[in-house]
Amino acid sequence: MASKTRPDPERLIDLDLVRATENAAIAAWKWFGKGDKIMADAAASDAMRGMFQLIACKGLVRIGEGRKDNAPGIFTDERLGTWAEDAVPLAVAVDPIDGTTLTAKGLPGAVSVLAVAACEDPDDDPAELFPVIPSHYMEKIAFGPKVSEGPGKVRMDAPMDENLDIIAFKLKKRVKDLVAVLLDRPRHQHIIDAIRKAGCGIRLISDGDVAAAIAPSLPNSGVDLYVGIGGSPEAVIAAAAIKCLGGEQLSRIWPRDDAERKSLLTEHGCTEADLARIWTVSEMAKGDHIIFVATGISDSPMLRGIRYDQQHCITESVLMRSRFRTVRRIEAFHNIDSKTIRLASSGEEMRL
Ligand code: FBP
Repeated sequence: MASKTRPDPERLIDLDLVRATENAAIAAWKWFGKGDKIMADAAASDAMRGMFQLIACKGLVRIGEGRKDNAPGIFTDERLGTWAEDAVPLAVAVDPIDGTTLTAKGLPGAVSVLAVAACEDPDDDPAELFPVIPSHYMEKIAFGPKVSEGPGKVRMDAPMDENLDIIAFKLKKRVKDLVAVLLDRPRHQHIIDAIRKAGCGIRLISDGDVAAAIAPSLPNSGVDLYVGIGGSPEAVIAAAAIKCLGGEQLSRIWPRDDAERKSLLTEHGCTEADLARIWTVSEMAKGDHIIFVATGISDSPMLRGIRYDQQHCITESVLMRSRFRTVRRIEAFHNIDSKTIRLASSGEEMRL
């Protein structure tokens, strides 16, 4: 039987959200390989904020970047959108560049990413749909839909070989043919040792764990598992995409040291239970009205990076919605002579 058609305000804005990450990626590209991650981040944030000035939404940034290293960015509690009376209220989780160092060094894996969440009832407050995680880092383990379905669950605290056995079984692969992706950090040495001991391959990346965490949920990404400690904002943004794709990511606050642990407990109002809590993607990206968009800056398992031909800047983006789990890939040809990008700082249109 056909189901009743419900109102779908996301459809009014989803392509504009793609424009926001496209513009941020194009602006970031101007700094690609030029050794200045601050300027790249500032340019991407300016372009994304500029596009939002044209989007009919009441966006409240719940997950902003920049807190980790005082870089420029779009910040938590910032308002994005026109805030017109009838505009759709949204919680926003954003990272104009995930992989600022990759962008500055001209390396693969940099993406511009954005997720929004709306309430079923537009009169409700969407703020709680994305949690603000007060720690810098979280422990994470992410895997795709085939692994998350059915009995036999990957667990955060299970021995690595147990989890790898489950993943191999669910993917109908041999353990030695699995590939895990990890940030290349000394803090991961024990995880790297355990995965190698089990005989699996590891793809070490220097930065950019949003695309890395999403990769196992994408068909043919060449990656079966993401594991390790990465940024907390990145965990929430990746959760939005993984939820749309039907995969899973388990995350838990990881205080860097005793001082951060103490500050979480005293200044940020966390309890021991909050520190021990294991978050699933549905708890991090709540509700049925999640949209995730990303545009590649440089090549990653998720997206091709920016390319130029004689007449165009070519972007590749992905647009996902949790409601129907539709995943769209959008290749856009931006004409060099006519395309402009609105910058929030000046209110002016920048030429490519
Ligand atoms: P930026 O783009 O903000 O620099 O973040 C890059 C990144 O690699 C994230 O993808 C990741 O979550 C985090 O940094 C890891 O932090 P650290 O470099 O401190 O290990």
